[in-house]
Amino acid sequence: MARKHEQAISRIIIQNIEHIPYPTTNVVPIPNEIDVEELNKVDKRNTMNDLTGSEWLPETKSFFYQKGLGSTHPHAKIERHHPAPYSFQDIARLVTFFTKSGQRVLDPFGGVGSTAKACALHGRICTSIELEKRWHDLSLERLETEVSIGASLNHEFINADCIPTLSGMESNRFDFIVTSPPYWAILNKRADHKVKVRVEQNLSTNYSDSQKDLGNIETYEMFLDVLVNDVFLQCARVLKAQKYMCIVVSDFRHKSEFISFHSDLIQRLNNLSIDSSSKLSLQGVKALIQNHKSLLPYGYPFAYVENIHHQYILVFRKVKVKSKKDSDGI
Ligand SMILES: C[S@@+](CC[C@H](N)C(=O)[O-])C[C@H]1O[C@@H](n2cnc3c(N)ncnc32)[C@H](O)[C@@H]1O
Repeated sequence: MARKHEQAISRIIIQNIEHIPYPTTNVVPIPNEIDVEELNKVDKRNTMNDLTGSEWLPETKSFFYQKGLGSTHPHAKIERHHPAPYSFQDIARLVTFFTKSGQRVLDPFGGVGSTAKACALHGRICTSIELEKRWHDLSLERLETEVSIGASLNHEFINADCIPTLSGMESNRFDFIVTSPPYWAILNKRADHKVKVRVEQNLSTNYSDSQKDLGNIETYEMFLDVLVNDVFLQCARVLKAQKYMCIVVSDFRHKSEFISFHSDLIQRLNNLSIDSSSKLSLQGVKALIQNHKSLLPYGYPFAYVENIHHQYILVFRKVKVKSKKDSDGI
């Protein structure tokens, strides 16, 4: 009875959502002192990417709207099997901003290969690590069918636990890291509306039952310890000096508690020492807005329970630590 009532309210609310027309064009006012001609060229001093000035500037905004293919697109068929893929188009924006053509990108939680697909489409070389064989196999199939036959051969797909894999890798190997980790155990919680729909369609609702899967760690504190010390600190080590690592995460609820996962990660990672000469330094937090998601009547009409309709992209850089001599001006 209560469930039926909830569904009825949900329908009414969804029908009544106003679609607010957000501007989609990026109008960047050009300061007088900047030569417009120059903005349409790749600056000779640009060692970071292959973008012109006018392509670069919009990408520095602290938000963007998530862009997917839509569930009926033929190329959405493979990613649909996975319970939490991100959009390869969103990742392509990061890959093309933070690397030049031909550079090396790492995703330690590769899933069904969205990072690899973005790299394959934009001439970067991806190393994608995924624990679960099913997702690993689908990521190879995805490149072969959605990019081109033979495309997967230009990238490195490792079907393994990322923890020992990363610790066996040489330092300073990658030009960019972009990834989305499991959000602790949110996929193992009581079945909500979204989970029921996936069960009805015979789609997976969790990544795996493996003890090595970070989504199956018992407590949130233990999960954060492993994620920060065994994964992201190792990622920072294998990243080249002065290069960037983007982590895509969302906050979530656990029972009645709101867990601000993105701020917990920032607290633990910002200024974390990698070795005696380098550390991770937060450079920005982008909101990835998911304005297309359906509003559900959580809490209504008794309490504020948020519809979480955005993700965060945490942008870290591997920077030099000033030695005591430098900071004393010696
Ligand atoms: C949020 S999903 C990433 C989805 C991916 N971005 C995509 O678009 O397909 C997290 C992934 O991490 C994988 N995973 C969990 N623990 C792992 C581990 N120890 N080593 C490697 N992968 C792991 C899960 O199987 C899952 O596919």
